[in-house]
Amino acid sequence: MKTSRRLNDFDAYLGTTMNVILTKMREKGKDVINLGLGDPDVRPTERQMKVLADACLVPDNHHYPSFYSMMLLQEAIAEWYKRRFGVTCDPEAEVLPLLGSAQGLFHIHTCMLDPGDIALVPDPCYPAYNAGVKIAGGVIEPVPLLKENGFLPDLDMIDPKVANKAKMIWVNYPNNPTAAVASGSFYKELIKWASMYDVAVIADNPYSEVCFDGYSPPSFLQFDGAKEIGIEFNSLSKAYNCCGWRVGMMLGNRDIIAGIKKIKSHADRGMFYPLQIAATAALNGPTHFMEERNQMYRERRDVVIKGLREIGMEVEVPKATFYVWSRVPEGIKDSKEWCLKVLDEIAVWMIPGSMYGSHGEGFIRIALTHPVARLEEAMDRLKRFVRR
Ligand SMILES: Cc1ncc(COP(=O)(O)O)c(C=O)c1O
Repeated sequence: MKTSRRLNDFDAYLGTTMNVILTKMREKGKDVINLGLGDPDVRPTERQMKVLADACLVPDNHHYPSFYSMMLLQEAIAEWYKRRFGVTCDPEAEVLPLLGSAQGLFHIHTCMLDPGDIALVPDPCYPAYNAGVKIAGGVIEPVPLLKENGFLPDLDMIDPKVANKAKMIWVNYPNNPTAAVASGSFYKELIKWASMYDVAVIADNPYSEVCFDGYSPPSFLQFDGAKEIGIEFNSLSKAYNCCGWRVGMMLGNRDIIAGIKKIKSHADRGMFYPLQIAATAALNGPTHFMEERNQMYRERRDVVIKGLREIGMEVEVPKATFYVWSRVPEGIKDSKEWCLKVLDEIAVWMIPGSMYGSHGEGFIRIALTHPVARLEEAMDRLKRFVRR
């Protein structure tokens, strides 16, 4: 079959290949601990599930949804951003619910790029950004995220000639995979830089509610001039423990939102009504469960940090996300080779940093999506492996 050439330009999402390998290992009886999985083991609240279940029992909720989502949901998103970040958005023109933020992360490239246009993409980064640029026929200009800069892009290092031609820049804080966070001064500098070069800022903020030790991540949109120059994605997946619902959102620049709406009017038939109803209730409802959930991630984080430090791995304590980003042990040159060896010998899977971009080499990402006992078991196995 003559499929398109652009299919050869990118790999399938990295989790898909690894899942096949890990499933085969489990079928052979191996007790695999998958520390690569970014899917939380926590459940939505009883209230969230009940609203969804009740909405499913209403026969009229099973029709095709309207192309555009319920205004109640758009208002709930706008109010959530107002309460949480002090951001004001017009629910009609500056808010758009998505079938998971992943849907928007994908369409944004078609919306912003013509073939040959430049997108500034952080390295390392969430892999969907690079794939999206390639599928849209755009050109990736990597922006290194270095430890010495706190894994923030050094905007002064972007060649002005490239910046002048670029159409968009991705930023994602709290960051996957590095767990780095961004301050208000970073966003202010970014808005100034993006306005000067007329580059759209595409901010991805799905970990805004997974945070510890009194830290509360900001939104890009809360800084002056943000809506004129960009948009932000967010999601119920991690914030409300419901990755499977596929409920995301974008807020901000109305021209970009109008563009994505146009693409979506052809690409999907809107969100299942019961999910729109349940998402509205969740966003308007209590949030105290997040504190307990974050406390649980914090305990897990501390177990992993302690374990890694005991075996001499250099690691920073993350303030947000459920990831730990650590250097590989000294002397290891190839993080992928090392992770595959660890998997083969002790059945613990961690994601090599190189899978997120060349500047991720020398690091690994661990997801805190397992109970403490399981993480302790993984750290014990790792200790035995490194010290043997
Ligand atoms: C940085 C980042 N952006 C977006 C997503 C996708 O989230 P959603 O479940 O809303 O599609 C993820 C999921 O892991 C992520 O890590």
